[in-house]
Amino acid sequence: MLIFTLILSEVTKLVEEKLSTRVSKLPLSVIRILSDSVGSSDVIKLQAGDPDFPTPEHVIKEAQKAAEEGFTHYTSNFGIKPLREAISQKLKEENGLDYNPEQICVTNGATGALSLTLLALLNEGDEILLPDPGWPNYEHMVSVAGAVSIRYSLKRENGFTPDIEEIESKITQKTKAIIVNTPSNPLGAVFSKKVLEGFAEIAKRRRIYLISDEVYEKIVYDGNEHVSLGTVDDAFERTITINSLSKSYAMTGWRVGYVAGPKKIIEAVASLNSTFNACPSSIAQRAAIAALTGPQDIVKQMVAQYLKRRNFFVASLNEIPVVSATMPQGAFYVFADFSKFEKSSEKTAKFLLEKARVMGVPGNAFGPSGEGFVRFSFASSLEDLKEAAERITNALRAMSY
Ligand SMILES: Cc1ncc(COP(=O)(O)O)c(C=O)c1O
Repeated sequence: MLIFTLILSEVTKLVEEKLSTRVSKLPLSVIRILSDSVGSSDVIKLQAGDPDFPTPEHVIKEAQKAAEEGFTHYTSNFGIKPLREAISQKLKEENGLDYNPEQICVTNGATGALSLTLLALLNEGDEILLPDPGWPNYEHMVSVAGAVSIRYSLKRENGFTPDIEEIESKITQKTKAIIVNTPSNPLGAVFSKKVLEGFAEIAKRRRIYLISDEVYEKIVYDGNEHVSLGTVDDAFERTITINSLSKSYAMTGWRVGYVAGPKKIIEAVASLNSTFNACPSSIAQRAAIAALTGPQDIVKQMVAQYLKRRNFFVASLNEIPVVSATMPQGAFYVFADFSKFEKSSEKTAKFLLEKARVMGVPGNAFGPSGEGFVRFSFASSLEDLKEAAERITNALRAMSY
């Protein structure tokens, strides 16, 4: 047994030594570390951004039909034409964006869209501006592309909206693009047209691209409206629009997303899609057409549920004296400030996991400005959220706050 263990550790060492620096720079998942540290049995998991609703039935039926018809082979690396046509129409009608099907590439989720777009744009040493806090994968993708992430802050005291002057001050000769994410993960902020005009103006003057991640576009509350960055002033020419069916249609596992933008960039993305993925899943693409062209009331029903859960959960957190949370205007996350209880977000997340058996994500996983916060997803049942709120309250009360 000892010999076996020794051999295994030698093999592990060898593999680690042979890994590319690109891969070894990737951080370990904080969520993984946390869940490994305690058993997962009675834990209420509010860490993932995955809708708890089933994929709509007509979407599943279309996938079944596609498989039965033998639509089970490679497709174009841009994605199938009827899907690109459906996306083009959706972008025109819902977003006011005039992309023709040749300006659209279907990818493995928005994750695929973003990673291939970044690979298509970034050279070694290029700089790109990212939100802080922001979705952690942006930074990892930039690092794999050999480029440098520069953070712009989204502060709670500013309603989690950007300071355009700060952004301007961070742009250098090496800056290639700015990533803009509204509605935002993890903050739930929805940027107004005026804020987006600020991004558009800088991008034009400094001749850089805007990468607009709009995956939560349909999940907005309280009469807020999602504005697509590409519609603002004359930003269209330099905007690359990223979207996905994952969140809107509870289709995270189907892996369908897309990128729309200038034709040359889309051709480069399709070529990378061919290199790394061949094409998106044929069956899932057919299902995506059904989702985009079928009844949309399903989306509204899901958003109505998220709204109820948001109102309950955020109010419950705010009843705890040491916790304070801004009401999210979009997406399905609440970014709660626990700094009066404990400055380290990792310590807080660990405490909540061990003592309340509730799993959230430490705020610093989203960037340095997230220190002191914990992100919870309310894409979980109201029952789970009620139980979680009670457990968090009791665990903190036991510490006499
Ligand atoms: C801001 C943001 N962008 C993109 C994605 C990726 O979504 P998908 O690859 O499932 O389309 C996520 C997923 O959590 C996200 O939060």
